[in-house]
Amino acid sequence: MKKVLILYYSFEGNTEKIASYLSEKIEADIEKVRPIKELKAKGFLKYVLGGFLAISKNKPKLNPLKFNPNDYDTIIIGSPIWASRIAPAIFSLLKSDIIKDKKVGFFYTYLGGNKETDNLIIDCVEPKNKLLSIHPCLSVNEDYENQKEKILKWAKEITKEKKSTK
Ligand SMILES: Cc1cc2nc3c(=O)[nH]c(=O)nc-3n(C[C@H](O)[C@H](O)[C@H](O)COP(=O)(O)O)c2cc1C
Repeated sequence: MKKVLILYYSFEGNTEKIASYLSEKIEADIEKVRPIKELKAKGFLKYVLGGFLAISKNKPKLNPLKFNPNDYDTIIIGSPIWASRIAPAIFSLLKSDIIKDKKVGFFYTYLGGNKETDNLIIDCVEPKNKLLSIHPCLSVNEDYENQKEKILKWAKEITKEKKSTK
């Protein structure tokens, strides 16, 4: 069995719900990536401020991780989409050297606007790491049962042992 760590950021709980479900089903360790200063805004203002932070490539300082990514074969990273980009906390994580020379599966939760998101993820994950694949989860809030089945299949696929050819 491969050793898998799930690292995620979640502002409103959708990404966390998916990350927790996966960790239980594939028996992976899990940890939330926590910025030292969390976005405080609510309502419409959260979109304005959060969107601005994402567009301006803000890299918030993060609290240290409890788990060491170097101890794992594969890292699954989960992020909500902010202004068609990955959330600043995950951007910060990927722009640091915390995850290096790893196999990475990336999933994101969003509400419908993900133009250019995949290209941005590829740019952030590679070439420091090998990006296995990207899995989008649309409208987790309304479609949880369907989304969780799909993502579990994806996670099992990317973390399964390859059979030796010898
Ligand atoms: C600041 C901000 C910006 C967002 N921008 C987008 C966007 O560009 N496209 C989109 O589809 N959803 C966008 N959303 C919706 C979130 O991606 C979606 O609700 C996600 O599931 C939230 O994950 P969370 O509950 O783990 O925080 C945005 C949400 C926030 C708070």
